[in-house]
Amino acid sequence: MKLRITVLPGDGIGPEVTKQAVAVLQTVSDVCGYEFRFDHHKIGGAAIEEFGVPLPEKTLASCLEADAVLLGAVGDRRFDHLTGEKRCEAGLLALRQALGGFANLRPVRAYEPIADCSPLRDDVIRGADILIVRELLGGLYFGEPRELAADGHAFNTMRYHKHEVERVAHIAFQEGRRRTRKVTSVDKANVLETSQLWRRTVTEVAKQYPDVTLEHGYVDSFAMQLVTTPARFDVVLTENLFGDILSDEAAVISGSLGMLASASVGGKVELYEPVHGSAPDLAGKGIANPYGAIQTAAMLLRYTAGLYHESDKIMQSVNRALARGLATPDLAGRRNRPAVSTEAIGQAVVETITDLLQMQMAYHAV
Ligand code: NAD
Ligand code: IPM
Ligand code: MN
Repeated sequence: MKLRITVLPGDGIGPEVTKQAVAVLQTVSDVCGYEFRFDHHKIGGAAIEEFGVPLPEKTLASCLEADAVLLGAVGDRRFDHLTGEKRCEAGLLALRQALGGFANLRPVRAYEPIADCSPLRDDVIRGADILIVRELLGGLYFGEPRELAADGHAFNTMRYHKHEVERVAHIAFQEGRRRTRKVTSVDKANVLETSQLWRRTVTEVAKQYPDVTLEHGYVDSFAMQLVTTPARFDVVLTENLFGDILSDEAAVISGSLGMLASASVGGKVELYEPVHGSAPDLAGKGIANPYGAIQTAAMLLRYTAGLYHESDKIMQSVNRALARGLATPDLAGRRNRPAVSTEAIGQAVVETITDLLQMQMAYHAV
C-alpha cells in the first residue's frame, strides 16, 4: 500500500497536533510495511510570512498530486487586518474549492471514560454518536456578489443550486445506511428561500433511500436540542454556515473542540482537518489536544485508503488513552485532574497502535 500525503501544518497549534497525527500514520506505515510518503508545505499565516500569499502555488500543486491532504489549522493574529483573498482563512477556502470535497464529515460522540469532562450532564450525553454532514463549497462562504464597501455597508450572497444540495444529500443518506438509518436535515425554511430549496431537494433525494428515515428541523430549535437530547440524532445534514456553527456547539458533547476530526469528501482529493482552529492562546505551550488531529488521521485511512482495520486500531488506541485518563488541560481541567502534554498523548497512542497491530500480525502468522 502506497500513499502520498501532503501535510499542511499551518499556524498556531496546527503544527503541534499535526506532528502527532503524522507520527501515528508513520507508525501504521512502519508496522504494516506500507509506504506512506509525507510532503510538508506551507499554508495560512506561515505561507504569507514566507511567500506573501496564504495558498502558494507550490502548496496547491502538491495537494492536487497527493492521494490525501492532512491539514492542521490556519489563522494568525498578525495577519487579521488583511481582507479578502489575502486572509489566512481565504487560503483554506481556496484549497477546499480546488480539491472539490463538497461534503465535510464531522463525527461527534460522547467518550464514555471521560464523559464527566463534558460540561453537559452524563445522562444528557450518554449514547450520543452523531455524524454532521456539512455542505462545504456553497452558501454564504462562496456566494457572489460580496463586498465590504468603503461607504460603510457590506453584503454577502446566500445562494444554493439544486445540484449542490442533491450531491451532499446523497452522501448523508449513504452515511446513514452505514449507521442507524436516520438523517436530520437542518435548515431555516421558515424564513430563507435557500432553505426552502434545500428542504424540497433533500425530501426528493430521500425517496431513493426508503430504508433511511428523514426528519427536518429548524436550525434555531435544533441548536437547542443538540445539547439537550443529543442521543436522539444520527446523521445531521446541513448547509455550510449552519454546519460550521453547529459542529463547534456539538464539541461540548465530546468535552472539547480539540476532540473533533473531519474529512472533506466527494472531490478530486480528500482533505482531512481537525475541526478546531489555530488556538493562538495555546500555541507553543505543548498542551494542545491532539485527539482531534489523531482521529482525523484515522478518517484518512478509512476514507482515502480503505484501511478500515488500521483506522479502527487508531480509534481503539485513542479510547484506551482516554480510559487511562490521558488528557490535555482542556479536558482534564474541568475535574482538576493532572493534565499531560500533546506529545505524551501522541506517544501513548503510538505505543498502543504498535501493540495492537503487532498482536494482530502475530495471530495471522500462526
Ligand atoms: P479555535 O478553534 O482556534 O479556538 C477556540 C477555543 O477552543 C479556544 O479557547 C482554544 O483554546 C480551544 N481549542 C481549540 N482547539 C483546541 C485543541 N486542539 N486543544 C485544546 N483547546 C483547543 O477558534 P478561534 O479562537 O475562534 O480561532 C482562532 C483562529 O483559528 C482564527 O484565525 C480562525 O479563523 C482560525 N480557525 C481555523 C480553522 C481551520 O484551520 N480549520 C478552524 C477554526 C478557526
Ligand atoms: C472550520 C473553520 C473554517 C470554516 C474557517 C477557518 C474558514 O471555522 O473549518 O470550521 O469556517 O469553515
Ligand atoms: Mn469552524
